[in-house]
Amino acid sequence: MKENVIPTVPFFKFLANANKIVKNPLPFHHKNFEEKGDTFRLKLGAKNSVIFSRNPEFARYTLQKNQRNYTKSKIQTKDLSKYVGKGLLTAEGELWKKQRRLIQPAFHKKQLEQLLDTVLEVIREEIVHIVPNASIDIFSILNDLAFQAVAKALFKSEIDASFINRLQHITEAAQQMLVKELRQPFKALYFKYGGAIKKHINLTVEAREILKKLVDQRRESGDRPGDLLDMLLDARYEDGTAMEESQLLDEILILFVAGHETTSNALTFTLQLLAKHPDIQEKVYKEYAFAKANTTSSLDFIKSCEYTKLVIEESMRLYPPAYFIDRVNLEEDMFDGVTIPKESNLLFSVIEIHKHKDFWEDPEVFNPDRFANNAGMKHKAYFPFGAGPRMCIGNNFAMYEMVLAITEIVKHYKIKKKETPIEIKPLITLKPHKAILEFIPR
Ligand code: HEM
Repeated sequence: MKENVIPTVPFFKFLANANKIVKNPLPFHHKNFEEKGDTFRLKLGAKNSVIFSRNPEFARYTLQKNQRNYTKSKIQTKDLSKYVGKGLLTAEGELWKKQRRLIQPAFHKKQLEQLLDTVLEVIREEIVHIVPNASIDIFSILNDLAFQAVAKALFKSEIDASFINRLQHITEAAQQMLVKELRQPFKALYFKYGGAIKKHINLTVEAREILKKLVDQRRESGDRPGDLLDMLLDARYEDGTAMEESQLLDEILILFVAGHETTSNALTFTLQLLAKHPDIQEKVYKEYAFAKANTTSSLDFIKSCEYTKLVIEESMRLYPPAYFIDRVNLEEDMFDGVTIPKESNLLFSVIEIHKHKDFWEDPEVFNPDRFANNAGMKHKAYFPFGAGPRMCIGNNFAMYEMVLAITEIVKHYKIKKKETPIEIKPLITLKPHKAILEFIPR
């Protein structure tokens, strides 16, 4: 007979492993999945608990099929929004729907085409920072690259580099503060009354002032460079009105936060995997050379780099930057005979789904060919960009940017790595740790 209760991992097990969990919770999650099955409840105290799941059908049920009954967790809606405000990533209900409808067209493939040459220019400017023939940690260069890519996609016309650097500093500082709050909840009062939270909220006020200056400059100059800012300024709600300025500034901050760290993580892991697999790296190089010789526009070039796309998809399977997706159910629900009590905290482990033996052959093996024939985004156990109506709005932007960045780097360099395992740092996103690589000029 089918079990209709979720197996429980008791609180003492959490306590006994607390030190290890703070550093890296993934082995603890994995052990519990192996012992308890694809869905288990972890007790975090007398009343608190989280339901962990690596069941892809359950994930699709909550994110897509019955998504109306599920909201995002407090982390995204409250903790993050005190820094970046209420917008696409952090809003719920009617506000989210209204914003998504308004902003979605700016991210259509056709619109993105206009931004590709700008993104390529950013990539070329950033990769000059790669020091050839030396061991370097590539993450910081790719992190700057991904930030600049979003910045220039938004503000194509020349803007003061000091503004952009300050914005980058602020968004990264606010994200780090949020990580501290989440990892050390026992210090909540210290963060609040010691002034750390206030200091970071003030920084985001400064970021909005910078953004306001940039928006004002655009309005006054009458320039129309055809960038994302133009599209956001031109966008109209169904009643014909435009976005309020404070909403616009929040959405811009959110695009910076959502769009840069995820992409730099994925780029870094992909380069590490290419360094470990020289044969696959050569295939990417050959594909680049062929595509370069046979296409004239950036979009056609990207479309010709089909194998590179598979490489990136496979890299995000093994190292998904958004390694978990969380939801809370508004009303009691039932999935597969199991009751989900009202207001349960659900945490879908994307990384566990992506390596689940029932859905993937040799899940630990890096094999881009498994995604051939457009199998990637259609695979039922593949969620790098989420699923359903709240799926990543920047997924095409990210894929285009990553294909351009990977091919541009492989065009100039052979990437090498000492024989050490790829290390991870699971924070809000899955970050690489010590991505030391060597870049040998071709
Ligand atoms: C490899 C890069 C990226 C990954 C892996 C990624 C992943 C994700 C995931 C999994 C979600 C859904 C979260 C949830 O349902 O709780 C999401 C949402 C979102 N992403 Fe991305 N993302 C990436 C790049 C980008 C870029 C480049 C942008 C913008 C320039 C962006 C903007 C957003 C926004 C605004 C949302 C919220 C959408 C909504 O709720 O309507 N992302 N992303």
